[in-house]
Amino acid sequence: MRPKVYITRRIPDQITAMIENHCDVRMWHEKDTTVPREILEREITDADGLFCLLTETIDAQLMEMGPRLKVISNMAVGYNNIDIEAANNKGILVTNTPGILTETTADLTFALLMATARRITEASDYLRNGKWSTWSPMLLTGQDVHGATLGIIGMGRIGEAVAKRAKGFDMKILYHNRSRRSGVEENFGAMYVDLKSLLRESDFVCVLVPFSKETVNLIGKEELALMKRTSILINTSRGGIVNETALNDALVEGTIWAAGLDVFSQEPIALDHPLLSLPNVVVLPHIGSASVNTRLGMAQLAAHNLCKALLGEIPPNLVNK
Ligand code: GLV
Repeated sequence: MRPKVYITRRIPDQITAMIENHCDVRMWHEKDTTVPREILEREITDADGLFCLLTETIDAQLMEMGPRLKVISNMAVGYNNIDIEAANNKGILVTNTPGILTETTADLTFALLMATARRITEASDYLRNGKWSTWSPMLLTGQDVHGATLGIIGMGRIGEAVAKRAKGFDMKILYHNRSRRSGVEENFGAMYVDLKSLLRESDFVCVLVPFSKETVNLIGKEELALMKRTSILINTSRGGIVNETALNDALVEGTIWAAGLDVFSQEPIALDHPLLSLPNVVVLPHIGSASVNTRLGMAQLAAHNLCKALLGEIPPNLVNK
């Protein structure tokens, strides 16, 4: 009997074909819409494997509806959309796609940092809106990236790749992490500091921790108040880690200078959200890993994890060991 797999969004055809070599595949085909919960609940009833995205909530209730489910393969490095404890209780393997997206996400993090520091979107709008009358000494002046102090909260793979880029810009690198990372200290001169010191001393603060009970609202009113008035906050991890109400207040009141955000507590963010009306916020629609090659690689890795698990082997990127 070939295993049955449900894929929650259309993925590249060659990756679907890869899975079809071993499995019978059903898929949610509608481009750029999430699979309705009732369809997912129906499809899970006879699925042996689920290939899903960070847009699907895979909770205990859904797992209960899938008595045959052996593996949940998430096409993302973050897996806060999946109830790991429930998967453990039911003996379901959960996998993610680490590594493959590290450099691409670090590129985007740095792009957002630079765009925010140098007011790129604001300046572009200024020109397009016909406001550019002449070169002017104080026009659209931003913050220097080179030589500034960068604070990285969460020195995992992506944090390290951001540090590598920052070294090329002669930045002083501070980091805060659950544990010391001697490699980044040696290779990039990064200095381990406590969270408060990092917030106080950094010109740029990059949030790169996974979302969890421990990191929800990690950056709130008190943390923002510690930051320099000229500092910039960048978040390319998960929205709920930064408290958006506190961030909005900090930006309006001038507690910090600007923010670059690729992620939000609700995605997509509502168009009337106050953060979207602020000129000193650069916003992106959660595209950290969105390069052609990386998204293909992520789909391939997720497919590989899924098939390995369904063939009875230990998938390479097992989350719940
Ligand atoms: C994207 O946010 C991911 O977790 O891969």
